[in-house]
Amino acid sequence: MASKSRGAGGAPASAVGEACGKVLLVGEHAVVHGAPAIALGLGSGARVEVSRSDESVLELGAERYPLGSGAGDAAPVAARAFAALLEALGASSVAARATLDIPAGAGLGASAALGVALARACAALSGSGEPGDIARAALAWENVFHGDASGVDTAAAEHGGCIWFTRQEGATKLDVGGVLRVVVAQVEPGASTRRMVEAVAAQQRAEPALFAEHIADITALAHEARGVITAGDWPKLGQLMNANHVHLQALGVSTPGLDGARAAALLAGAFGAKLTGAGGGGCVIAVVDEGSEASVLEVWRGRGFPCFTATATPTPR
Ligand code: PMV
Repeated sequence: MASKSRGAGGAPASAVGEACGKVLLVGEHAVVHGAPAIALGLGSGARVEVSRSDESVLELGAERYPLGSGAGDAAPVAARAFAALLEALGASSVAARATLDIPAGAGLGASAALGVALARACAALSGSGEPGDIARAALAWENVFHGDASGVDTAAAEHGGCIWFTRQEGATKLDVGGVLRVVVAQVEPGASTRRMVEAVAAQQRAEPALFAEHIADITALAHEARGVITAGDWPKLGQLMNANHVHLQALGVSTPGLDGARAAALLAGAFGAKLTGAGGGGCVIAVVDEGSEASVLEVWRGRGFPCFTATATPTPR
């Protein structure tokens, strides 16, 4: 979403862009290696306000990132990402003020939401933009943080709802065949996505045949999950998420904390549960029904995890 307010002469003086965070129902890490992933957009994310300025500066909470004479290798990562985004859009200097209403670095797609919101605001301010500009600019931003981002986070931030994503073909909206309730717990601080993606790539180099089997299995379960989401079969989706988590454990991206939070959700009646995002810490998600939602949230709150429910409503037919 983007909006603008007019200054003298009709040119917009400022513009606002918004974008949502996400959870990955299936396919994190495998998506970097060509498998499909399924993402669910959250109801909250990032908001960025931009205005024309002689010097580009990004304010993120209490932090300030001026571009000054450029954003060379020594500049903070947020400044380099900001410079990459402005360059990808061909945008002139802007002062940007960003706020996040999801935690950063927890696997909920905060940096992608910021990139999409910033790109939307800049495009609305300049009044220009070709199809695909937002996605390209947000990915340029995201790659500065993550190195080799698959693009699933920025696609989810841009489209919201439930999406199917591959690196080769981008995002497709999925029909949701009922009320999909996903509870999310922030279990522990997240690890760097770049570091986790590199650790998984190291596994591929060490054991290529075994790695290829994991990717093939995750690809198959993503295809199955796609049909299951369209049919609204949440117990089956839970089983597929459980299977995906076992692959993520084998790939070395789960932690005892994430495994414990997941086990607690299953004991409290969730259909299935898994880590979401890059892992090494961060969040666990569980698919629940109306009956088990409250018990899973209660168990997680009892362990001190901040948690909430993300809901997808049925696609009208
Ligand atoms: O940055 P996170 O935690 O939202 O994870 C992104 C998903 C990965 O598959 C691990 C990386 C990617 O680029 O797809």
